[in-house]
Amino acid sequence: MRLILAPMEGVMDYTMRDLLTRIGGYDRCVTEFVRVTREVLPPRVFYRACPELHHGSKTPSGVPVYVQLLGGEVHYMAANAAVVANLGAAGIDINFGCPSKTVNSSDGGSVLLREPERVHAIVRAMRAAVDPAIPVTAKIRLGFHDGSLFEDIALGIVDAGATELCVHARTKQHGYQPPAYWAEIGKVKPKLHIPVIANGEIWSAADARDAQAQSGCVDLMLGRGALSFPDLALSIKAHHNGTPYTPLPWATILPLVINLASDLGQREPRYAAGFVKQWFTYLRRQYPEAETLFQHIKRMKDANHIKAAMMQPTELTGYDDERHG
Ligand SMILES: Cc1cc2nc3c(=O)[nH]c(=O)nc-3n(C[C@H](O)[C@H](O)[C@H](O)COP(=O)(O)O)c2cc1C
Repeated sequence: MRLILAPMEGVMDYTMRDLLTRIGGYDRCVTEFVRVTREVLPPRVFYRACPELHHGSKTPSGVPVYVQLLGGEVHYMAANAAVVANLGAAGIDINFGCPSKTVNSSDGGSVLLREPERVHAIVRAMRAAVDPAIPVTAKIRLGFHDGSLFEDIALGIVDAGATELCVHARTKQHGYQPPAYWAEIGKVKPKLHIPVIANGEIWSAADARDAQAQSGCVDLMLGRGALSFPDLALSIKAHHNGTPYTPLPWATILPLVINLASDLGQREPRYAAGFVKQWFTYLRRQYPEAETLFQHIKRMKDANHIKAAMMQPTELTGYDDERHG
């Protein structure tokens, strides 16, 4: 089984990819999307989205990173794919799932799921534009309004030569509202002769098992679950292999959050504060200590203040200086 760390704009950047892949269990990452309009972007845009391109397109712990592109212009999607490929990307992923209004009004993301022919044309042109050795993968939802075009879209993506397909098991209309409809993937998967990756609402090893059973997919992609439960991938793999697993305690997680806040210190303080707080909104789902701390820091606008609050050896943080250094 392979576990893929989901692309998540504004939170799954290279610092978070590094942190989570160091903990382990991930076989691949995908960058936040790079928006493609009617231009061929300069390399610096791709290096910014994927600093790992400077290091063989791998995280420091050696996990390959694919670069994700989003856009609706066949020609420019292909031309930018060629640039990314020349920069040494381990793979190129195409975003056909983003529900954002700003993105959709600029003709990219899930809005394209209303037009299976254009999805096909984009995948085919991107596939043709890069070396066959470089994977070109697509990430879709079940559809835009409903799932009626799902099979057409998926078959078109396979026909266009995609290496793999990842399906977020919801329509754009569903947004992020639970549940995820894993069984819908299972209905179409037997017709698709490329690896299919199931995504959506996997928060635990039990969810992973259910997603696999209902979708018929062995491989899974983890997004919000990976942020709320940083060792989720290890836990899923342990359960898959029948090995007992004890999740990392808050005392192990908190220093990781503090280190992240330090790494972010070079960035604009407000941005860095927002980034750390966003991670807390996920962590508090798994750790009661994170909820308590979040209530304390949620109005802070400077990452250094948040860091100082996290380092106080009090009941608030559950962080005991003597025991954990
Ligand atoms: C804050 C946020 C940002 C996201 N950014 C992207 C993105 O850049 N590209 C993409 O394909 N999907 C993006 N997604 C969708 C996720 O990759 C994933 O498909 C979705 O969250 C469902 O998986 P999950 O339930 O495991 O989180 C984003 C989701 C969230 C919540």
